[in-house]
Amino acid sequence: MNQRELFFRHLAQTSASPLALEIVRAEGMYLYDADGKAYLDLIGGISVCNTGHRHPGVVEAIRRQADLYLHILVYGEMLQSPQIQYASLLTSLLPQSLQSVYFTNSGTEATEGAMKLAKRATGRTQIVAFNKSYHGSTQGALSIMGDECWRNAFRPLLPGVLHLDYNAFDQLDQINDHTACVIVETVQAENGVIRPSFATTYAKATAVETVIRQLSSGNFLHALRKQCDACGALLVLDEIQTGFGRTGTLWGFEQYDVVPDILLLGKALGGGLPLGAFVAKKELMDTLMDKPVLGHITTFGGHPLSCAAGLASLNILLDEKLVKTVAEKEKIFLQRLVHPSIRSVRSAGLLIAVEFESYEKNKRVIDHCLSEGLLTDWFLFAPNCLRIAPPLTISAEEIVKACDVIMDGVKMTVDG
Ligand SMILES: Cc1ncc(COP(=O)(O)O)c(C=O)c1O
Repeated sequence: MNQRELFFRHLAQTSASPLALEIVRAEGMYLYDADGKAYLDLIGGISVCNTGHRHPGVVEAIRRQADLYLHILVYGEMLQSPQIQYASLLTSLLPQSLQSVYFTNSGTEATEGAMKLAKRATGRTQIVAFNKSYHGSTQGALSIMGDECWRNAFRPLLPGVLHLDYNAFDQLDQINDHTACVIVETVQAENGVIRPSFATTYAKATAVETVIRQLSSGNFLHALRKQCDACGALLVLDEIQTGFGRTGTLWGFEQYDVVPDILLLGKALGGGLPLGAFVAKKELMDTLMDKPVLGHITTFGGHPLSCAAGLASLNILLDEKLVKTVAEKEKIFLQRLVHPSIRSVRSAGLLIAVEFESYEKNKRVIDHCLSEGLLTDWFLFAPNCLRIAPPLTISAEEIVKACDVIMDGVKMTVDG
């Protein structure tokens, strides 16, 4: 049996029509299949490979760590240099209040840990989340996922979850003194890149005024922060997709004048290896130490290989000043992706949604791109939107090449 047959026979499938490309190697911006065909990667493993595939510095760090030790004991018991060094670097790049890192294996486990921490610390049970949000697929994270279509088959889920509409200022008074925490994506990714908006009173502001207000107050996240402060609820920001420079600043929340009580990290955090984290102030995190002791435990969370890879990748991101390049690269995409069949292009740095009239039209463009060696995708809650979230290492030439392929696809398949 060949690899394809074995794949369909022995690997659990998550959809009836997986991409099923047989990738044998990846490097920089490209994936290579078994026939030697190169694919320009426009989605970076879904916002994971911010420093590209197999950056030599990351591979070297993994090799060095593999020569020392792999798993030694459950999380939190031993001094493991990759974890310590990585937590130190991360917290040096975060606001003063976010000083304690709990490493997990994945993003969804970071969500689970944050929900437990909020309940434990506040003694409250209600969790507020938002429609069309995605925070992971385990049962707690699924309970707060913002789409009934995905939740329904798995009930009963967590009780005490309230879903509000993202950017609905008039619903914020539903956050009250029963609320343990509010969990929100800084930018809603799977909803097709929806950024925090401004109170309607600011709707007629000029561009300059908008920027000033964005940086000061008046945006949705800022209003959320104020409401949480007013009623003693914790604010949890999910930066699993938006962290590590994706939106043009190292952390997305820097653009909205808001600091969370708990920050969720994942995806690019591991530099291509599995890793998640929730980060909070020390006194808050310490509540997981007793009543009960070992309030949150994991065998592999913060695996030394993952931490070594993530640490190397973050150092590369900083050394190569990749975050500074994001806005300029975003601009090239926006300038080139213009066509009457494109309904809108929504972007937050190099997280971009190209909106078509329907999923079918989008899918035809995606398929065209694939046949031309350009890997892209759609969004979970916005299937009519084409996903662009490349490694931040993408060059201007590669962006132009990618846009040409997409635009050819639009002209041939959407109009045709
Ligand atoms: C915003 C956000 N939060 C959480 C998750 C869950 O992360 P993981 O797939 O590592 O469990 C994802 C994954 O796509 C995500 O996009």
